Amino acid sequence: MVGVMRMTEPEIIVVPDAAAMSQHAADEVTATLRRKPGAAISLPTGSTPEGMYDQIAQSARNGEVDLSQVQLYCMDEYLGKSGNDDNSLTSLLLKHFVVPAGIPLEHFHTLPTLDPDVHAAAERYENEIAAAGGLDLVVLGIGGNGHIAYNEPGSAAGSRTRVIDLTPESLAQADDYFAGKPVPDKAMTIGVGTLLDAKRIILIASGAGKAEIMRQALREPMSADVPASWLRLAPEKVTVILDEAAAALL
Ligand code: PGA
Repeated sequence: MVGVMRMTEPEIIVVPDAAAMSQHAADEVTATLRRKPGAAISLPTGSTPEGMYDQIAQSARNGEVDLSQVQLYCMDEYLGKSGNDDNSLTSLLLKHFVVPAGIPLEHFHTLPTLDPDVHAAAERYENEIAAAGGLDLVVLGIGGNGHIAYNEPGSAAGSRTRVIDLTPESLAQADDYFAGKPVPDKAMTIGVGTLLDAKRIILIASGAGKAEIMRQALREPMSADVPASWLRLAPEKVTVILDEAAAALL
């Protein structure tokens, strides 16, 4: 018998700029929803996905996609913060996507960061996603330290929804967003394993500032030091969409 070793890599799509990246990512989301209007999806926060949010909302307004049945799961949130806090990731997603896109609020699933027992609550959130049949699609950004959702360096490939300590690098990144107010030093995040269980995974990044971490994530050996590298464990369902600047070191 002849053994065949197949080395597969995630699909990498390089587009000219951030606008094209946003359009491509939005097309992936709308294609999923046209095929399955009640799909369970999870979208990232941060500056990278804003163009994608706008494109999806525009498609909904044009009648090109129906967002009335989508189930949207938050992927990360600061501990003790919720949709009622101005600086929370949940309120960012609400303001920049859920409300303008007209997604029914009862289809917006938020992380239980205010629960008196956050650890048990995190496990319930994980189970809620599993009970929904898992995520049909996740779109991810990447932190300068390689985090996906808030799976910081050190996160295991099999990690699940849990509370995590934020690294100094992520705290510095969040500092801008909190504009002088204290930044919580812990977050709740869906796990790397939760993400790898999704049926389809898109990673988006733009700008020269992401070039080195994209090189590490895609070209160095997989490691917990760069949690995004774990996506290569499921290459057949991963597509990485980069603008030319973010792809410059591949
Ligand atoms: P950014 O954040 O889109 O603002 O660069 C990405 C992330 O930290 O996941």
